[in-house]
Amino acid sequence: MASLLIKNGEIVTADRHFKGDVYCEDGIIAAIGADLQQVADQTIDAAGQLVLPGGIDAHTHMELPFMGGVSSDDFFTGTRAGLAGGTTTIVDFIVPNKGQSLIEAYELWKAKAAKACADYGFHMCLTWYSDQVKEEMHAVWREHGISSFKIFLAYTGAIGIDDDEVIKVLEAAGEIDALISVHAEHGLAVQALQNKLVGEGKTAPKYHAQSRPSWLEGEATHRAITLAKLTQQPLYIVHMTAKEALDALYRARAEGQVVYGETCPQYLLLDDSVYEKPDFEGAAYVMSPPIRPRAGGHQDYLWSGLANGQIQVVATDHCPFTMEQKRAGEENFMKIPNGAAGIENRMALIYTYGVATGRITLERFVDACCTQPAKLFRMYPQKGTIAVGSDADIVLYDPNQRGVISAETHHHRVDRSIFEGFEIKGAVTHTIARGVVRFAHGTLNVEEGSGRYIPRP
Ligand code: URP
Ligand code: ZN
Ligand code: ZN
Repeated sequence: MASLLIKNGEIVTADRHFKGDVYCEDGIIAAIGADLQQVADQTIDAAGQLVLPGGIDAHTHMELPFMGGVSSDDFFTGTRAGLAGGTTTIVDFIVPNKGQSLIEAYELWKAKAAKACADYGFHMCLTWYSDQVKEEMHAVWREHGISSFKIFLAYTGAIGIDDDEVIKVLEAAGEIDALISVHAEHGLAVQALQNKLVGEGKTAPKYHAQSRPSWLEGEATHRAITLAKLTQQPLYIVHMTAKEALDALYRARAEGQVVYGETCPQYLLLDDSVYEKPDFEGAAYVMSPPIRPRAGGHQDYLWSGLANGQIQVVATDHCPFTMEQKRAGEENFMKIPNGAAGIENRMALIYTYGVATGRITLERFVDACCTQPAKLFRMYPQKGTIAVGSDADIVLYDPNQRGVISAETHHHRVDRSIFEGFEIKGAVTHTIARGVVRFAHGTLNVEEGSGRYIPRP
């Protein structure tokens, strides 16, 4: 029976922080207290360090076939980067093709995920709707514990669905008490703007952002919320970027609707000047929704939403493409594969620019990065907290170290970092996954296939 004792750290949960020791046995937290005396196989002195629950990234796309390419981190390299950055669990999206069976897509993702070195769950995307899809929603929920589904109001003509299908999906989710997530952008309006811009010869990466203005995210967010109200279902809005979208969320919550919001570090920290970079470097930031202008006040608004708990979760939307892959859109921004890397940087960025600046509390940091994703996606209290009986997924964070993010040193399998040059306060010194030290002082100790599938019934 392997055991580990973490001594003298500052234990942080979503509710409080306090000095103490954590004793883990066989991958589970067995005791928490002051001055524990258990004799363990391994003891780590965490004096001066924060002892956090393992991070949960509820929004990743490993090895995703998308827009003519495949995202460049697979389940092994992506979860390895996550462990290096203090993330011990991911929830990745199964994306069936239109017309493809959900079961068939589940089998494909299961095979890809077999090499994960951190624990993982799946959300199921619904890219089309029929009686078969409805039956298969029940089947993947019953047989594989998939209790969250994602729909796209964007990507019309590809993986997006229409409003009548959205209503049916929400009704079907109600039958199994599942949570629907939505990518909210007005797909048809985006398409019209894309065609107009390209027709005018405006093909550079910066026009990607111009084709997806914040108000089209606001409209789609409001529409999704309206359809959730119609069907009396809860809703989770992924990767929120815009003031207009947040206003729709605030209004709905004030009126008593159950709506949750997620944002990502890139939307909190970057602005659309990134698209002005020369030599096609702006392509590295092409993602949907795009990075917003500072002038709109979106970033500050998102920080307030995170601080006051109106935005529950910070995820990454980790979906990297190399510069070579991005070059597919050199002649036309519409062909640049959408997405960027972030799984390794999330915890440190939110600590540095959230906690260390005083924008959010330590507890809110843990809540948004670890506890809320576990609660909303039904892994709590197995995951997302430090409690007796929980999985021993633990991160030691030394707030006194300093670092700088760079593609030269990150573990993401991609040649650009959208956070290149960002200064970091603190560092993950140890990542412990189910009681095993997987990362210590910059050195990884990972095993392909050691990640476990987490059903979320
Ligand atoms: O640009 C993005 N976000 N790529 C990944 C797919 C998605 O929409 O989440
Ligand atoms: Zn999306
Ligand atoms: Zn995504």
